[in-house]
Amino acid sequence: MTQLQTNPQINTVGIDQISFATSKSYLDLAVLAERNGIDVAKYHYGLGQELMAVPAHHEDIVTLATDAASRVIGEGKRNKISTLIFATETGIDQSKAAGVYVHRLLGLREDCRVVEMKQACYSATAALQMACALVARHPKEAVLVIASDVARYELDTPAEATQGCGAVAMLITAEPRIAVVHPEVGNYTEDVMDFWRPNHSKTALVDGKFSTEMYMKALVNAWNYYQKNAGMAFSELDHFCYHLPFSRMGVKAHRKLCEHVQSGLSREQSDAQLAASLEYNRVIGNSYTASLYLSFASLLDHGKDLAGDNVAMLSYGSGCVAEFFAATIVDGYQQHLHSDIHERSLLERVALSYEEYVEYWNYPDPVDGEEVVIESHRHHKGPVLRSIRDHKREYAIN
Ligand code: HMG
Repeated sequence: MTQLQTNPQINTVGIDQISFATSKSYLDLAVLAERNGIDVAKYHYGLGQELMAVPAHHEDIVTLATDAASRVIGEGKRNKISTLIFATETGIDQSKAAGVYVHRLLGLREDCRVVEMKQACYSATAALQMACALVARHPKEAVLVIASDVARYELDTPAEATQGCGAVAMLITAEPRIAVVHPEVGNYTEDVMDFWRPNHSKTALVDGKFSTEMYMKALVNAWNYYQKNAGMAFSELDHFCYHLPFSRMGVKAHRKLCEHVQSGLSREQSDAQLAASLEYNRVIGNSYTASLYLSFASLLDHGKDLAGDNVAMLSYGSGCVAEFFAATIVDGYQQHLHSDIHERSLLERVALSYEEYVEYWNYPDPVDGEEVVIESHRHHKGPVLRSIRDHKREYAIN
């Protein structure tokens, strides 16, 4: 008879390390407003956005992911990683997982499993939950979760100002040093067409107003299921991180939740519960799967003395799937952040003119196998896309 082995008991599982990367260039939305004849206040206050990250020719979901992940796998953690889960809706291939390129660029173990996940902006949360489950089963191992996306809409549309790009990498372990992720969740799924990207299109199609309504509906339903599933009470939650297609969406969503639970909070009190989480998204834009975790990184880097605080998370992916869950910040978390690198990477970015932005937006991705050598890669350090030849993308670390 087979002897069943039980795992050593572990107390907690969650986020041991977190870091993000975004493009080295951006478009100031004041430039876009002037070009489009729009009052810039619409972008600054109506959407809550100031700058929009724009990837250069040599940057894509793989280079951003590798950049973010390079910081979270240090301190002897690399060889503990037994699984890499890559969440994206900007897939570069219908078959091969983008994470396989990242696996090589980071020099991960060859006995590490790699897989790509998709459900609009939501899939990084499924990846995080699966990572927690894997670590609970094998507490000595670590799982690398990466969310990486380039948000693209057609030029000259209302959605144009909500583009952006970024990657967030998180190392999931037992006894984590940043945040314990609690197992109680509230999910909500409904088959709707609020935002989607057919295989033939490089940009998302969106029913903008309907998508914001679905976001609100999914939030309320996910919250209700979270309560039904023994989640924390509203009063126990100290901070709120939302999926942020634009930062104003988070503010409105949180006001809606406060109203729904009859919190009795004033607008100022309600807004204060998420203020620190909006900072990075305001100057990066939508990063789809990475967006919620960019909010969390922003809270960690800008919030004051968060140790012991409970953080609520609302993940939303159009189509649609939502999830509400919570995490508790661990004592001493500050020593394990990458705040300085994050701030510096944003300060060192280069502002684009409107013409440069359009040139980047239109950059060719050859469909006939023709060779394209990406000249801009020569001027950049770190992970780069060097060329596309014979339908193959060639990455390297400069
Ligand atoms: P729009 O046509 O620009 O909307 O589209 P608007 O004219 O209603 O203006 C937006 C806000 O700016 C309004 O505020 C205006 O009043 C205000 P609100 O009434 O909503 O509070 N405004 C001004 N404020 C100050 N000064 C002014 C001024 N003028 C106007 N002068 C929309 C906006 C978000 C629909 C559009 O940008 C869009 O389609 N974006 C893409 C879709 C999107 O982000 N949806 C969000 C929910 S779905 C989601 O989050 C999932 C997603 O990330 C994808 C995924 O899951 O993969 C998108």
